[in-house]
Amino acid sequence: MSKFDRKIPYNDLPLLPPKADIETKSILRKTISAGRALAQLNGTLLNLPNPTLFLDTIYLQEAKASSEVENIITTNDELYKSLVADRKIENSAIKEVLSYKEALWLGLEQLKKKPFITTNLCVSIVQCIKQHTASIRNTPGTTLSNTKGEVIYTPPSGEKVIREKLVNLETFINESENIDPLIKMALMHYQFEAIHPFSDGNGRTGRILLLLYLKLSGLLNTPAIYLSEYIIKHKADYYQKLRGVTENNKWESYILYMLDMIEETSSKGLERLNKITTTIATTANEIKTKLPKVYSKDLVEILFRLPYTKRRHLIDEHIGNPKTVGNYLQTLEENGFLKSVKVGKEKLYLNQRLLKILEEK
Ligand SMILES: Nc1ncnc2c1ncn2[C@@H]1O[C@H](COP(=O)(O)OP(=O)(O)OP(=O)(O)O)[C@@H](O)[C@H]1O
Ligand SMILES: [Mg+2]
Repeated sequence: MSKFDRKIPYNDLPLLPPKADIETKSILRKTISAGRALAQLNGTLLNLPNPTLFLDTIYLQEAKASSEVENIITTNDELYKSLVADRKIENSAIKEVLSYKEALWLGLEQLKKKPFITTNLCVSIVQCIKQHTASIRNTPGTTLSNTKGEVIYTPPSGEKVIREKLVNLETFINESENIDPLIKMALMHYQFEAIHPFSDGNGRTGRILLLLYLKLSGLLNTPAIYLSEYIIKHKADYYQKLRGVTENNKWESYILYMLDMIEETSSKGLERLNKITTTIATTANEIKTKLPKVYSKDLVEILFRLPYTKRRHLIDEHIGNPKTVGNYLQTLEENGFLKSVKVGKEKLYLNQRLLKILEEK
């Protein structure tokens, strides 16, 4: 292996699998605990009576957090409000968050048709994130800098080289079966980021690939986990670990970081999921007792699908005619279950209980 120079395109980036011990005792131990936390989350998700109920919310949360790594910031309230309101979205941060969510959906849909992670899949994802302005880099000049503006890494240059490395990555992901999938996930993530196939959006595409891989490997059937939250919290560490692999072949501490990400976000995800299911049950009971004429299971589910709702949502789900659902929403507000806000000419109803859970760190 030739010497690494952060200012020269790293065309010598070694192919996978790495020439290092990736199954040290610490790694194996952490793989077990991370795998256990993930399995608990997965089991709980599988046992939910209506697992798709929260998906929109969960994907949006992940999209928001992942975009935040790139400093695309929006508040939960603004995000959910603009999603439900009829008016056109002007805010570019919100647009990017929504494109990210779409990219995740697209990835999941493509996996259903073709259960492999491929270069083409990566390109479709980044195209969705960047609204069709990206493809494999074919001009030189991409560098990664730190916050002081110093170049810290120059990814491989030349479309042919990049494509060759991606083919190796693809083969590694889809074929090497003797490595634990969680360890493999960490390896593939480093490699993807180090190849850095696009001029922008590599981080976000790489994070979507993590979720797709968890699904593909059967470890998490519904990718209801906020990996990006962990990365935001330990961002400096994240960059440091990636550099450690490149500069000093320090795979172990990088892999441990990724495994800890899985463990922590799985436990937190499970906690949050339990909180949401308990809150749905409590709210349903309260409405049933206080407002038996308004109550229905379907109505309560709509209130928990996204933090904001409106008359149209209830009408579309056949809860009642416009007048009836208008009365329902008003009664729910009068009894403290919802809070109405005006957005333009529209009236939206906020479920504060749900928003509060989503905002908890
Ligand atoms: N030293 C490094 N070696 C390899 N990859 C790195 C290094 N430092 C950062 N990266 C990766 O590059 C990503 C940023 O690349 P890029 O700007 O193309 O992606 P993005 O999605 O627009 O941004 P972000 O990941 O910040 O949201 C980081 O998220 C990280 O995964
Ligand atoms: Mg970027």
